[in-house]
Amino acid sequence: MKGLLATINMAKMLLTLFGLLILHQDVVEATYTMNETCAYYTGYIANPTNCKGWGACEDGVLKATGNCSDGYLYDSKKGICNYASKVQCATSAQNICENSDDNTLVAQPSDCTQYCYCKNKTIMGCTKCPNNQLFNPSSGTCVNTYTCPADSICRLIPNNKFAGSETCGNYLRCLDGSGTEGSCSTGFFNALTGKCQSTNPCSTVNTNTLAPDTSICSGYTETSGPQYFADDSTCYGYYTCESTTGTGIWRSCPYTLNFDGTISTCVQANQVKCLKNRCANINLTFVTDPSSSCKKYYYCSDGQQSSTSTSCPTNAPYFDEVLQACVPTVPSYPICS
Ligand SMILES: *[C@@H]1O[C@H](CO)[C@@H](O)[C@H](O)[C@H]1NC(C)=O
Ligand SMILES: *[C@@H]1O[C@H](CO)[C@@H](O)[C@H](O)[C@H]1NC(C)=O
Ligand SMILES: *[C@@H]1O[C@H](CO)[C@@H](O)[C@H](O)[C@H]1NC(C)=O
Ligand SMILES: *[C@@H]1O[C@H](CO)[C@@H](O)[C@H](O)[C@H]1NC(C)=O
Repeated sequence: MKGLLATINMAKMLLTLFGLLILHQDVVEATYTMNETCAYYTGYIANPTNCKGWGACEDGVLKATGNCSDGYLYDSKKGICNYASKVQCATSAQNICENSDDNTLVAQPSDCTQYCYCKNKTIMGCTKCPNNQLFNPSSGTCVNTYTCPADSICRLIPNNKFAGSETCGNYLRCLDGSGTEGSCSTGFFNALTGKCQSTNPCSTVNTNTLAPDTSICSGYTETSGPQYFADDSTCYGYYTCESTTGTGIWRSCPYTLNFDGTISTCVQANQVKCLKNRCANINLTFVTDPSSSCKKYYYCSDGQQSSTSTSCPTNAPYFDEVLQACVPTVPSYPICS
């Protein structure tokens, strides 16, 4: 099965082989919500939970949502409500099946290694492509190379529109749900205006240094040598004290590490249940919400975590910060306990 069979033949063949398709949903990728997409784009976007739905992004947040009228679906590639027969919906597989003919194979929009089989407007089952291949919904086959839109900012954005990149100051040119990164010929891309400008619109991440603290060292209990105290505003900073009457000097843990006050050491971020902004000193797109027993995750933009955290889906209820994905079993990191 090299991915060259026609859609319907492949579905029939799988049905004959296994009697029923296997429901196989190991890992569901964390994907951008509408609100998260709005941090990078101004204009209309698709609603990932509803084939008719659209959202309007302005000033970095979702300002309005709506549905296309009956007979129309939101065409995420064109950015308009279009005749249902002309739209390949980019939302959940169930949503796609509701708008697909019998015996079609459709992509599992949140996981490019999976595809689902539709009949009678319902998902009959989902399965994984063999040999780590990816499902290309245009050809309806499993292929070796395919740019997966599931984890792209462009997933909900129309074709040939420009969105901000995670590398702040660069842009993504969106096409079929995936982006090609580029930079302005002069200046920096501003995601909220969609234009290049001469000044860098990106807030500087983690270059802040906290002022010396004159009271924190009263907690010093050593007989000699330095003692370290967590600061109360970051997950990654701490004060160094040399005596009870000294002044605490602020320092940052190395990039990607957080400070564990209980052992006075910088450790991997997933070892510390820090309830402050966890996006600041780390190179991750999504971080665990430590108050959720690893059932929710935040999204990071410019070193800031989103104002609210998002739940993992019920079939993969735990967020794995290292895999950057929702998984079926609780990860063993201390942050999950
Ligand atoms: C989007 O984000 C804004 C600002 O963070 C918040 O007020 C609003 O409730 C969010 N909307 C949704 C649908 O999550
Ligand atoms: C759009 O339709 C969905 C599904 O029918 C519904 O849940 C949602 O409330 C509608 N949204 C608006 C803005 O009408
Ligand atoms: C198709 O789905 C409808 C509504 O759920 C159901 O009434 C009908 O029996 C189904 N038909 C077949 C052939 O499964
Ligand atoms: C983030 O991590 C990835 C993979 O570990 C690495 O390739 C990339 O250069 C890192 N980016 C920064 C800004 O450190």
